[in-house]
Amino acid sequence: MVLISQRIFLETIKKYCLARSIAVEVRSGGWLVIMTKGGTRRLAIGYDIGLNSAVAHQVANDKSACAEVLASAGISAIPHRLFLGSKLSKHIPGSDSLDAMLLLLAQHPHGLVVKPNEGTSGELVFRVTTRTQLETAVARILAAHPSLAISPYVEIKDEVRFIVLDDCALLAYVKLRPTAVGDGVHSLRELAHKTAPADLLKTITDDFSPAVLDSIPPKGELRIINWRHNLDSGAEPVLLKHKEMPHFGGALAINAAQALRIRFASIDVVQVDGSWHILEVNSGVKMEALGKRAPDLVEMIYSTALDKVFA
Ligand SMILES: Nc1ncnc2c1ncn2[C@@H]1O[C@H](COP(=O)(O)OP(=O)(O)O)[C@@H](O)[C@H]1O
Ligand SMILES: [Mg+2]
Repeated sequence: MVLISQRIFLETIKKYCLARSIAVEVRSGGWLVIMTKGGTRRLAIGYDIGLNSAVAHQVANDKSACAEVLASAGISAIPHRLFLGSKLSKHIPGSDSLDAMLLLLAQHPHGLVVKPNEGTSGELVFRVTTRTQLETAVARILAAHPSLAISPYVEIKDEVRFIVLDDCALLAYVKLRPTAVGDGVHSLRELAHKTAPADLLKTITDDFSPAVLDSIPPKGELRIINWRHNLDSGAEPVLLKHKEMPHFGGALAINAAQALRIRFASIDVVQVDGSWHILEVNSGVKMEALGKRAPDLVEMIYSTALDKVFA
């Protein structure tokens, strides 16, 4: 089975290799790619093309470890506290403590964000403000993942993704969340149905209470219909020019890459109360959603990275 979502990644690799007489074998339904040129063999797995060390890869994908490494390097990052599910927690007393989670909830009146510690794409990312919501979120995540991370909820003004290769930002875009404009007639639910794809609608129903969904936003009022910034759940990328990057947390993203000793990564920075913080780092650079809008740019990025692989 070819993973549909990996289409652009695989096509770009194949095109790159064809143009340079590099033999390509695609295995495991597209998950594994073997590239051979003369005596040189290089591998790509998932969205990882092999530029990052195993440690950099693991730390980046472990949200809690990543926040710890960045904090210890003096780089501002949204804290992610690790909690373990029952399979792992028996080795570390207190690592599954509901009391510790409730204490965090009490300390953060705007609520918490609970998510899989090694998740992607905004799946199972919950904002909770009550004990019941917290317990439900924890149960849902731990049914599917071995561990979770809890952060204080922060009011994000902008979330920006930087694609970084060897300490240079190749590309950056702001993620604009999906919105609906009130007309004074239709409910939020009806407005959302008009603008949002079906899979996003399910998330929206999870996020808002039925009363809010049935309320009618006043004419002209702009409502964000998903508080998460994932492109997979309806956000739109707005590309930044190179000269704009420094104003959107560009230096912080590069510093984070250096602290993690990661060569090729996508790094998300968020603006909260006028300052920038790292939200997450991904060591596999996935650009499927961007590729539908700016295929040339995506090709440029993977080609630049593959040049380093074969350098
Ligand atoms: N602590 C937080 N406060 C506010 N929003 C958050 C917080 N953590 C995550 N989010 C929102 O949820 C989205 C997904 O979270 P993220 O940590 O990026 O996980 P994923 O790997 O699933 O994308 C982010 O794009 C952001 O909009
Ligand atoms: Mg994310």
